[in-house]
Amino acid sequence: MSGCFRIRTYGCQMNVHDSDKVSNLLYHHRWREAPGEEEADLLVINTCSIREKAENQLYSDLGALRSWKHAAPARVLGVGGCVAQQEGDALLRRFPHLDFVFGTHNLTRVPAMVEAARGGGREARTEESRSLARFELPERHPDYPGPTPGRAFVTVMEGCDMFCSFCIVPRTRGREISRPAAGILAEVEDLAGRGVREITLLGQTVNAYGRHAARRERSANAGTLPFAALLWRLAGTPGIERIRYTSPHPLFFDDELIAAHGELAALCPHVHLPAQSGSDRILARMRRRYGAADFLRIAAALRRARPDIALTTDLIVGFPGETEADFRATLELVREVRFTDAFSFKYSPRPGTPATEDAAGAVPPECAQERLVELQTLQRELTLAAHRARVGSRTEVLLEGPSRRGATQLMGRDPYHRVVNLDAAEAGLEPSAGAGRLVAVEIVEATPHSLIGAPAWLRGDSPPEPSLKAFGG
Ligand code: 5AD
Ligand code: SF4
Repeated sequence: MSGCFRIRTYGCQMNVHDSDKVSNLLYHHRWREAPGEEEADLLVINTCSIREKAENQLYSDLGALRSWKHAAPARVLGVGGCVAQQEGDALLRRFPHLDFVFGTHNLTRVPAMVEAARGGGREARTEESRSLARFELPERHPDYPGPTPGRAFVTVMEGCDMFCSFCIVPRTRGREISRPAAGILAEVEDLAGRGVREITLLGQTVNAYGRHAARRERSANAGTLPFAALLWRLAGTPGIERIRYTSPHPLFFDDELIAAHGELAALCPHVHLPAQSGSDRILARMRRRYGAADFLRIAAALRRARPDIALTTDLIVGFPGETEADFRATLELVREVRFTDAFSFKYSPRPGTPATEDAAGAVPPECAQERLVELQTLQRELTLAAHRARVGSRTEVLLEGPSRRGATQLMGRDPYHRVVNLDAAEAGLEPSAGAGRLVAVEIVEATPHSLIGAPAWLRGDSPPEPSLKAFGG
């Protein structure tokens, strides 16, 4: 064994998945996961720079980790992810106790960089690559348990060519690149063989999958398919019962993708569809390439295809130039779509992005804060109403593990991606043993953040159906 490692992960699901990929690579190089950071010989921080606060987290972590590093001379400390991509070498210069830095296209270099660090080397590798090689990763190591039994992320595309005026991602994740379908299908088959029942397809603009090759009529060479066709192919994989994808961009909802939501039973009735704003003026300044009416049209089409679909979103308040009327338009959009949930953020200027140049349009921080509170208050009401409407309904929950609500509770997600908690004993399961299982439940209570379920078959019914086919179509 080479030693024990831990990875601290910040940010989006892409980062969570990258940390998983790095863990697996390290297992292939005889590293094993440590029970905690105090026991670890290697610590990797996978960073996020989407907002200033996320980026600052790294600097405070690195300050605090000076004592971790110096407690044992052989310890190795590395930083990856979006801040690493942005800052590269500068991090090594600023933090002498940091051993290596790897960018978002350099995951496969980590084991070698760790070895070099053990020999006293210090390097930063942040080259951007346009090669498909980054999708060719080793299979899951037999000893690596993976993050969540029964569920897995699968990368289908990476990078972003949209260049929304507020967003750092095109600068930290590089250009859009789609993975050949054959590799995706093979990975999903392999996962299904290991008991995975739910896959989440990942990409910065996941439904733009294959679009560049399609536009140039080179899909066959690139090995890509239209996104909806990919979903259909994946749904044919025996054992895969749930398919999700995140995050799509409103611009790439074609008729086939919308229709798939009505026709593919395995495609979960939930779409996380970032709106960012409800004001056409602000959307134009954000360079989102759609207006509020386009967004509403997509939401309505998805609901026609799948009436019970749950829509969630991302919203930004206090974007430069946002007036009270613009903000009201966002509230209006939220009311009209009735999102089941929303992640809302105050605009945070990001280095090198065009929106930072609009200093004159800056919204005062107190005003942005007030808007955030008002928006979140509205969304809380809508979320609770959506939860209450579910009480008395039947659903199926893929268990993830113990719940935060207490030692005897299990948590999982229903097809709508809502958290459902249930009592382990009532479900006939050990709190530690249920992860990865699908259980049929009746929703018995709604809370602002989650649902509470009771096993449906304990309520005088037959045992659970193996899948949710009754909800399809
Ligand atoms: N400021 C605030 N929020 C941002 N997001 C992206 N960039 C910024 C920024 N500069 C939000 C968007 C995006 C989500 C992941 O983070 O809403 O969808
Ligand atoms: Fe950022 Fe826009 Fe790309 Fe999303 S689509 S990652 S918000 S640039």
